[in-house]
Amino acid sequence: MIITKKFESSAVNTFKIGDPKDFIYGKDEYLYTDNKNKYLDLVSGSAVTVLGHGNKEHIKITKQVLKSGIFHTGTRLTNKYREDLYLILDKVLPKNINTFHLVNSGSEAVETALKVVQYVTKKSGAISFTGGYHGRTIGALSVTHDKKLRTSFQTLKNNVFLPYPGTYKNNKEKYSEEECLTKIDNYFKKKKNLPPVAIIECIQAVSGIIIPSKKFIKAVFKILKKNNIYIIADEIWNGMGRTGRLFSFEKYDVKPDIVCLGKSLSATIPLSAVAAPKKLLKNWPPGIHTSTFQGNPIACALSKSTFDQILSKKLLVRVNKIEQIFKQFSSRITNYKYVGDVRVVGAQAGIEFLDKKNLPNKHIVNILVKTLLIKKIIVYAGGEKSNVLMLIPPIIIKYNNLKKALKIIEKEIISLN
Ligand SMILES: Cc1ncc(COP(=O)(O)O)c(C=O)c1O
Repeated sequence: MIITKKFESSAVNTFKIGDPKDFIYGKDEYLYTDNKNKYLDLVSGSAVTVLGHGNKEHIKITKQVLKSGIFHTGTRLTNKYREDLYLILDKVLPKNINTFHLVNSGSEAVETALKVVQYVTKKSGAISFTGGYHGRTIGALSVTHDKKLRTSFQTLKNNVFLPYPGTYKNNKEKYSEEECLTKIDNYFKKKKNLPPVAIIECIQAVSGIIIPSKKFIKAVFKILKKNNIYIIADEIWNGMGRTGRLFSFEKYDVKPDIVCLGKSLSATIPLSAVAAPKKLLKNWPPGIHTSTFQGNPIACALSKSTFDQILSKKLLVRVNKIEQIFKQFSSRITNYKYVGDVRVVGAQAGIEFLDKKNLPNKHIVNILVKTLLIKKIIVYAGGEKSNVLMLIPPIIIKYNNLKKALKIIEKEIISLN
């Protein structure tokens, strides 16, 4: 830890919640500092380790690939693991979203999706939404809404942020769905040179688990389609079962043109993907957009195993059960002092805290994160104003362990003064 403090770039989040723990091993929903001290992981490495830690199948498949001696081949050579992943992606995604471009991080997937549309349409610019989070590389940052993340950097021009319900329009008020739809309609009525592409999270994650209605998402998709705009569904956080469906757009009965996946796509080591129709991903020449580590055999094999486990172990049923547990918790705490809103979807909950003047209260979330860490429960702050306590357990978490942790969290909320 001292070495990390000395050498690591200060932009990394490592010391955000005080001096971090050195974990030496992980098993299921727990991380261990030694044989006696275990911490319940309610963050899943920022929505990555959807199957928890030390997953047996993951260990087995990693050993198998390592034993073959092929750690990496580069993209000019094919391998079985990459092909197996393509087959499963083809099987689980909508019918014509059947070509894929693998990369290494969520931001890189977003860059790739924006880039291919720009290449094919020869047009620049993108539509995204207030509260939307799509990553930190310059292209991805340009469609990420949070001003404080963008302000020191020269982001791309010609981008527009349309309003998304439930996000803050000022420090206190939030956009309603009707207001958003009117503003979106007006934008399309007035604007002549429309951007070729829009990127949307059907459920916003980093902004504090913001869950619009089906009516809203359907209306947005309809207007974007009517205006011939390619729609990128950013499933980097919410894909792979987090919301109770394999992809969150399925919950909304809408069909994007392009899907970005990352985080729990492998649920382990870095891997992300863009899935799109042939008219996009088969329409740019070899070498125009590559990356050294894309399609790494170990990452692909682990991703295939993650899909197999989610589907064969019927883990989406578990996600729905976890949602019920979160909903019971939500109904208990919703009227507690400082609790402004509790949002639950699938295996995740966002508890929004307000102060006495009903303004976002990040101070309380900060206190909760630190006190819960002392009680060996790992949670993070999220939300546009850092005033949302985020609970994102691995979907294999034992129900009783979750219930016990929620009781402790409830007690801590009650004791706030
Ligand atoms: C919805 C969404 N898109 C994109 C990203 C960026 O992914 P990465 O941090 O892997 O670049 C994130 C990260 O939190 C995300 O939640």
